[in-house]
Amino acid sequence: TSIEKFIEGIPKAELHLHIEGTFEPELMFEIAKRNNKTIKYSSVEELKEAYSFNNLQEFLDIYYAGANVLIEEQDFYDLTWAYLTKVHQQNVVHVEIFFDPQTHTDRGVSFDTVIKGIYRALEDGEEQLGISFKLIMSFLRHLDEASAFKTLEQALPFKKWISAVGLDSSEVGNPPSKFERVFAKAREEGFITVAHAGEEGPSEYIWEALDLLKVTRIDHGNRCLDDDSLVKQLVEIQMPLTVCPLSNLELKVVTNLKDHPIAKMLDLGLLATVNSDDPAYFGGYMNENYLGITRALNLSKHQITELAKNSFKASWLSDQKKRDMI
Ligand code: HPA
Ligand code: ZN
Repeated sequence: TSIEKFIEGIPKAELHLHIEGTFEPELMFEIAKRNNKTIKYSSVEELKEAYSFNNLQEFLDIYYAGANVLIEEQDFYDLTWAYLTKVHQQNVVHVEIFFDPQTHTDRGVSFDTVIKGIYRALEDGEEQLGISFKLIMSFLRHLDEASAFKTLEQALPFKKWISAVGLDSSEVGNPPSKFERVFAKAREEGFITVAHAGEEGPSEYIWEALDLLKVTRIDHGNRCLDDDSLVKQLVEIQMPLTVCPLSNLELKVVTNLKDHPIAKMLDLGLLATVNSDDPAYFGGYMNENYLGITRALNLSKHQITELAKNSFKASWLSDQKKRDMI
């Protein structure tokens, strides 16, 4: 349809994407085989059937299990390259992606192996596909502060490759305040900071991300709508929210895409963007996310354009490149 063509045609930036969440079942079985690793499910079809979640934790359990078969640098390269070729077809021209080092270092894969594979693919993607990129190292918030500090130490030799640190995994019970000191150290070392907040957790966690972690973007942020004074503040400082519609649907943050708050966010003046979070698990990459909300909320071409422009505004591209895209 014409609206599909319109969505496909506009250049977009992806700002909330976990590279481990792009692990498609077919590639997972292929990599498991060459690493002599077993998967709990006997076929791609059986694995896909397990992708039905009632909340964030049910998803995370499957997502971490999937990542278990990633061992060699080439595995991380192949994972990242598959993602880049996929979104290249969707006219995604800039990506700022998360990786979760602790998911791998905690099972004996070295930090170097992980980042070298991902980074080499990102460089090849820039050169061969014209996709510019930034890399965000995300701490797992269900683990302790000491583990995050250790991960930050491991990242220092790769500082030039990593733009920002983030915070993901099980939100409720693991508030931003748990990582205040780690984030202070990260900022001292020159990293930008972002954090998942207000996905399942309360609006107070968004305040903490702003006040204690000094973030420059809020990942998800849905629950800001519970607090008028928070919305006012987010609008005033034009704090980007990296919203993930299909993720929200699959993890039951919303029960129906027709109830998705992204149009309301735009109406309120919030700097909302559309992102895919973990596309291999949630049934869609960028364009499927745009199309999902466009159909459910009857978005106009003007609103779609605004969302795409917001993705560049909220990015860490240079001011010149932003101007070119907006
Ligand atoms: N929320 C928290 N942690 C995550 C997510 C998410 O949406 N995706 C991957 N890790
Ligand atoms: Zn996420």
